Amino acid sequence: MAFIEVKDLSIVYRSRRGEEITALEGVDLEIDEGEFVAIVGPSGCGKSTLLKAISGLLRPRRGVVRIGGRVVEGPYDGVGFVFQTPTLLPWRTVLGNILFPIEMKGLRKNDYVEKALKLIEMVGLKGFEKKYPGELSGGMRQRASLIQALIHDPRILLLDEPFGALDALTREELNMELQRIWMREKKTSILVTHSISEAVFQADRVYVMSPRPGRIIHVEEVELPRPRSFEDSSSPEFLKHVNNIRRFIFGQGEKT
Ligand SMILES: Nc1ncnc2c1ncn2[C@@H]1O[C@H](COP(=O)(O)OP(=O)(O)OP(=O)(O)O)[C@@H](O)[C@H]1O
Ligand SMILES: [Mg+2]
Repeated sequence: MAFIEVKDLSIVYRSRRGEEITALEGVDLEIDEGEFVAIVGPSGCGKSTLLKAISGLLRPRRGVVRIGGRVVEGPYDGVGFVFQTPTLLPWRTVLGNILFPIEMKGLRKNDYVEKALKLIEMVGLKGFEKKYPGELSGGMRQRASLIQALIHDPRILLLDEPFGALDALTREELNMELQRIWMREKKTSILVTHSISEAVFQADRVYVMSPRPGRIIHVEEVELPRPRSFEDSSSPEFLKHVNNIRRFIFGQGEKT
């Protein structure tokens, strides 16, 4: 049995006016422990919804999410989540923000300070521990959010467009960083992104979703060796994956 198992998942939102919006319909995924998968699809197709459902923040209308064989029925503790919208608290320092999830879980902050400082150094934020989010660049804020998601050593890392708001150079740099982190820690990871090449760069497998209601319309297996570099992204093998995925997103692929 896969580590993360999503079976026939449907999620329906109810708007304030009482209308029902089907965000996901009949989604199936199987992700093994230690795998890195990516999810791509048009805006509004339900990618963020899918991550929230996997982490137990949303209840399915139909179907089920299982992690380690157990049905997820409420917020799952073992996930680190980098949300699409910034979540750093402006009135807390970098270090204070990174330790915030530890406090929320009722753990002893002091037990995690050393680890936090190590992670801060690892992503190149040393010297910025005492700064406030407003004093950081966008890239630095995303580095801090990434550490915040890793601080409690989660079994699963969920990344919702973590680099979407960054310039191309910073984005490349952070993607290299993310690859390094994954290669070292082999945390089961799910990356949502609008960038097809970012998905192919990072993932063992890319799921392509249809417009809302989101369904999986294609699964692209990426077996390129790691570490991958940005020079690789112009290789024929890399481009073959990108073009396959593109065909499905723009509707010329065969439905599976
Ligand atoms: N809280 C909510 N109440 C009602 N509808 C919602 C809610 N959250 C999302 N939706 C709707 O569900 C659909 C899927 O939203 P979701 O945020 O999952 O899309 P997405 O694929 O992450 O989009 P994007 O790429 O723009 O981030 C959209 O049509 C959205 O309008
Ligand atoms: Mg989203």
